[in-house]
Amino acid sequence: MCGIIGAVAQRNITKILLEGLLRLEYRGYDSAGLAVVDKFGNFNRFRCLGKVQKLIEATQNKNLIGFIGLAHTRWATHGIPSEVNAHPHISEYIIVVHNGMIENHEQLRKELISCGYFFSSETDTEVIAHLLHLKQKQHGGSLLEIVLQTIPQINGSFGIVVMDRRNPTILVAVRIGNPLVIGCGVGENFVASDQLALLSIANSFIHLEEGDVAEISCDKINIFNVMGNIVNRNEIKSHIHYDITSKGNYNHYMQKEIYEQPTAIENTLRGRCKNKEIDLEELGVNIKFLKKIRHIQIIACGTSYNSGLVSRYWFESLANIPCDVEIASEFRYRKFQVRKNSLLVALSQSGETADTLAALRLSKKFNFIGSLAICNVLHSSIVRESDLYLTTKSGIEIGVASTKTFSTQLTVLLMLVIKLGSLNGMNLEVQHNIIKAIQTLPYRIEQVLAKDKMIEEIAKDFFNKNHALFIGRGDHYPIAMEGALKLKEISYIHAEAYAAGELKHGPLALIDDKMPVIVIAPNNELLRKLKCNIEEIRTRGGLLYIFTDQNTDFKDTYNMKIIQLPYVENITAPIFYTIPLQLLSYYVAIIKCRNIDQPRNLAKSVTVE
Ligand code: F6R
Repeated sequence: MCGIIGAVAQRNITKILLEGLLRLEYRGYDSAGLAVVDKFGNFNRFRCLGKVQKLIEATQNKNLIGFIGLAHTRWATHGIPSEVNAHPHISEYIIVVHNGMIENHEQLRKELISCGYFFSSETDTEVIAHLLHLKQKQHGGSLLEIVLQTIPQINGSFGIVVMDRRNPTILVAVRIGNPLVIGCGVGENFVASDQLALLSIANSFIHLEEGDVAEISCDKINIFNVMGNIVNRNEIKSHIHYDITSKGNYNHYMQKEIYEQPTAIENTLRGRCKNKEIDLEELGVNIKFLKKIRHIQIIACGTSYNSGLVSRYWFESLANIPCDVEIASEFRYRKFQVRKNSLLVALSQSGETADTLAALRLSKKFNFIGSLAICNVLHSSIVRESDLYLTTKSGIEIGVASTKTFSTQLTVLLMLVIKLGSLNGMNLEVQHNIIKAIQTLPYRIEQVLAKDKMIEEIAKDFFNKNHALFIGRGDHYPIAMEGALKLKEISYIHAEAYAAGELKHGPLALIDDKMPVIVIAPNNELLRKLKCNIEEIRTRGGLLYIFTDQNTDFKDTYNMKIIQLPYVENITAPIFYTIPLQLLSYYVAIIKCRNIDQPRNLAKSVTVE
């Protein structure tokens, strides 16, 4: 959370910082700020409450010149969103931007106040600025030296970038718990929380590793560990194009990303389905290792957790492998038992989610057979810290609500199920049928996307609604959960999901003609059971929206709307049924005039606990 960008160059970098911030806004958007210093040490700082656009407007016509600078878009952790709490924070000549949390900030604040420091904000970040200043005053030394001396005093997770306005040629960046990447230019260098911010100005990147401290000038990048010893890090060329981060003909990133799902799934399948078999050689392990796996422990948060829940049905019913799925923030704080030959699977779009990363790190202290990351970001912490990884090839996802990364996560999980199933004696014909179903999925999704007008129409019914209930059975229960999560996240309608069989154990009490109940009703072996649950709702005057197959015999009535979807194979139905629910949330949020790509209080990459 929070987006950081820094630059040191021989040209004015103000515009680069502001444009980079726009691209980082998915990480937080409650306030923004920048500080630039020109060649002569003249310094300017601007901060404002609200989005980056407000900062752009505030700095327009100010003729800001900076050859070195830092900028930040904030997701508040300590201190309310406000101008004074916005970064960069300053202690006389030391300027700091920070992503993360300082756990011992209260103690440090007290100590600094007793040394005569005055705090102008409620943030934990200001502590870092004053600490660095104090170190400089007490012992002197270069910016790098005072940063290295200060790090041991700070507990918590932080990605920070620091400059000293008296020496406007050097930036120092520290990665402890929060990602930072250096963009390498010619005679200029940059640093940011995500390479996305730097794509228009660099195509070669160094991903800082945990504990790295980088000293960055126009023509030099030196990287050290926290002990101050130099370390080597590879420079990697990026093949990501600047353009792919634009909205194209779509109104919102979320809309674009929903529509990109057929291609995202095709890309995720490419090279992994060969001769009617799943080929996961990229894992780089031998079959013997995979054969040993007797249990899968999935850890994840949010939407990624929901995809893990769907896969549990698949692992157990198709691959005969017991599977447990747990929210990472719960897993990491309880005493758990590790099953024999259990593979820990960390699911994450961003690969930076603090709780998932912490749970992955914790798992290394236990006797899991290994860890596997399924992730959309190749150079992310979760990928780098897992023994094995499989990437979802969705392309960058910018909308805060995960869409295409959910469907591609499920695609990868299903491939893994087939692979492990095949080693556990899964019938060849079953394998081929599932592979055929996955390969047909992009086409099926095209067909369901073609129903978007119908879903847009239905969305109008939700304009005045404050609550909604989503129900499903079997592997569609987690899809109901995902539908509810999407709706609450971007439309702010309170939505809950229930396993349909649970209704009579409590939630039926909520049913009246004002409570929309969204039913995920694919044409599978549980449909008969689900129909009984639907009747329970109907006879109590409930308002039903049934997402179903064209071949089921539901009839539209005044309180029951049927959304007939094209045929889909049962195995891939959970992925397929997610799409209309994404569209529903999207259109409801439009009607309610919500900020689709940046819903309130949220951020795309949740790097704090
Ligand atoms: C919801 C959403 C979040 C994320 C969650 C985990 O649309 O995007 O619930 O799924 O924050 O993030 P990742 O997958 O990056 O670990």
